[in-house]
Amino acid sequence: MKTSVKLTLAQTLFTILLYALGAIILGAALYPSVLLINFYWTHSVHLVEWQRLLFFCFTLTGGYFIFGLTLIFAASLARVLLGLHVKEGVHPVGSPQMLKWMMASALYIAVRFTFMEFILLTPFCALFFKLMGAKIGKNVQINSSRVGDISILEIGDNSVIGGNATVICHSFEKKGLLIEKVKIGKNVIVGLNSIILPGVEIGDNAVIAAGAVVPKNTKVAPDTVYYGVKNNFERRE
Ligand SMILES: CC(C)(COP(=O)(O)OP(=O)(O)OC[C@H]1O[C@@H](n2cnc3c(N)ncnc32)[C@H](O)[C@@H]1OP(=O)(O)O)[C@@H](O)C(=O)NCCC(=O)NCCS
Repeated sequence: MKTSVKLTLAQTLFTILLYALGAIILGAALYPSVLLINFYWTHSVHLVEWQRLLFFCFTLTGGYFIFGLTLIFAASLARVLLGLHVKEGVHPVGSPQMLKWMMASALYIAVRFTFMEFILLTPFCALFFKLMGAKIGKNVQINSSRVGDISILEIGDNSVIGGNATVICHSFEKKGLLIEKVKIGKNVIVGLNSIILPGVEIGDNAVIAAGAVVPKNTKVAPDTVYYGVKNNFERRE
């Protein structure tokens, strides 16, 4: 079999495994809500039809929030039970470390695409990050669901992650999957729509300007405003 066909097959099988993992985690998180809905439905037969349906709608939407909050714990528990501790370094494509990283990312994605927007700027967001392994200080405000690889992320006290800021601790490179911690100090403002790449360290009291790109491994000095880099990349054919 050609290598490319083998790779596609392996990738497809692994994707199906991730879907199965997603189905189990999402299904488990849905269970308390389904119990509630079932309880309501069996105990509401005495209501007139319009009332029964109206309260059914409230139970459904309430069930959605219960599902979301349960999912935070289910995903975090699954990460621990499956031993998905992401390690820094360069990991070759298809290596066990890379597969672990993909599974940990899948757990995060399960929360991101179902409930994350509802927990931004609430204590539940910091709690979720902590449960997933991040080191999060006191009074940290996170307003972006584009924060990846949260198990190795560090954010100091009173820092703010602005709306749609991308904070990412991995990068696919020619040598493989590079994973490097991002460390954000205390009292830092990460401006909205900025992009923070792997290995970046941001000193205490620094501000990352809105829309700025902070390249890999940049050390932003404390008490400074970082405006980003000039677009002077060379084009190589
Ligand atoms: C970078 C920032 C801190 C500068 O604020 P400031 O100190 O009040 O400075 P000013 O608005 O007076 O602008 C100073 C200079 O920086 C430039 N500038 C301001 N914001 C910039 C940005 N996001 N990117 C690039 N340049 C910027 C201004 O054009 C001005 O340039 P000039 O001196 O050549 O005229 C602010 O614009 C910013 O981006 N803050 C982040 C806020 C945020 O996203 N918070 C989290 C979500 S609420």
